[in-house]
Amino acid sequence: MSYNILLLGSGGREHALAAKMSESPLCRTLYIAPGNGGTGLYGTNLDVSLSDFATLERYMLDLNIHMVMVGPEAPLVDGFVDYCKKPTLSHIRVIGPDQYAAGLEGSKAFAKKFMKTYQIPTAGYLEVTQNNIDAGLEFLQNNPPPYVLKADGLAAGKGVLIIDDLEEASLELKNMLNGKFGKASDTVVIEQFLDGIEFSVFALTDGQNYVILPQAKDYKRVGEGDTGLNTGGMGAVSPVSFFDESLKQKVEEKIIKPTIAGLAAENMWYKGFVFFGLIKVGDEPFVIEYNCRLGDPETEVVLPRLDEDLVHLFEKVFDGSLENRYCHEKQDTAVAIMLVSGGYPGDFEKGKTITFPDIIPDDVRVFHAGTTKSGDQVKTSGGRVIAVTALAPSMDDAVASALQVAGQIDFDGKYFRRDIGFDLKD
Ligand code: AMP
Ligand code: GLY
Repeated sequence: MSYNILLLGSGGREHALAAKMSESPLCRTLYIAPGNGGTGLYGTNLDVSLSDFATLERYMLDLNIHMVMVGPEAPLVDGFVDYCKKPTLSHIRVIGPDQYAAGLEGSKAFAKKFMKTYQIPTAGYLEVTQNNIDAGLEFLQNNPPPYVLKADGLAAGKGVLIIDDLEEASLELKNMLNGKFGKASDTVVIEQFLDGIEFSVFALTDGQNYVILPQAKDYKRVGEGDTGLNTGGMGAVSPVSFFDESLKQKVEEKIIKPTIAGLAAENMWYKGFVFFGLIKVGDEPFVIEYNCRLGDPETEVVLPRLDEDLVHLFEKVFDGSLENRYCHEKQDTAVAIMLVSGGYPGDFEKGKTITFPDIIPDDVRVFHAGTTKSGDQVKTSGGRVIAVTALAPSMDDAVASALQVAGQIDFDGKYFRRDIGFDLKD
């Protein structure tokens, strides 16, 4: 059978997903809600808010949708998968965890408890509320700096504070519990600081079995040399040179297997992606965080390297035939460079006209993120505007190709990092 597929989301991740899914002979028709200025190349954009489940439902029924791929976390944490369990929608294969299972991203305390129960390596921690604030202050005193304070709930990517000074950390703990991040910080998780290098691994699971996608490393700081403010991600590379056979095996045995076994043991409804935000400390991997979705801009390097039919993998999630294995990967290195609006991640202007070179080389993909189409023109509509991904036999060549095209795409205020991958060698 082939599928009418609805993809939810509007970022670079969704453009990369649309491109990959539309390559599949199993993809009959693709709709993207709401999509962006690039996704219309692969299907029909639907103008609907992802919090408007009733309108999404109407589209799903009217368009005879068979499969839904949920890109971002918000609809998952808001219960979109639960909404789709009603009899009129339950025939539709929705890729994503239900609301309870999405708690692995939506609540840091829930994720930490899960990891503790299933003995998954992660930083030591204490869960703190107004009721045990003294224990929280004591935990800070008994641990060396830096201090890691995390709002339990989603806080638009800003809910993690890493502080060197004990007094400041103690004050911020109180501020957080007093509503610094609204309800999201009613509970705070204090963690021991892990010193190492971060990377991301993604698995697709049916709640029992899994396949592991190509790994990636993203570059979150706005400035070159990993300096300046945190962003949603300024670029990414895949593969990651230090992800060798030994680390690969440790990640699968110590982290992925027990996580999926935990989902199964808890009977969680989890048919979707698990994003393992990992850190290598010495030779050992630890989990920094789970997300219940693919990463952005990691997806823009992971999917171009994935040598598999993604829709076929989605099919396997629902027919119970997913095998526990690493996915086939293309040998080439992928590098994504994010073009962002001037001022991002602070204030920036939107609505700038984007111009593209006439010819884009075969080894380069241009994934739209914060763009919209306005007649024949493409305009900026967000902080992260376009991801330029290049594939090449070496990282240096991939960086050079991506930089060349990044330089040729223009809009007023464009900024990008030229050093993506600087800390990794081929
Ligand atoms: P999170 O939202 O949990 O991914 O945290 C945001 C960022 O804070 C991570 O990507 C890490 O760079 C950093 N971080 C979080 N937890 C720790 C930790 N326990 N030790 C060191 N760095 C951390
Ligand atoms: N690039 C990190 C994320 O998607 O959360």
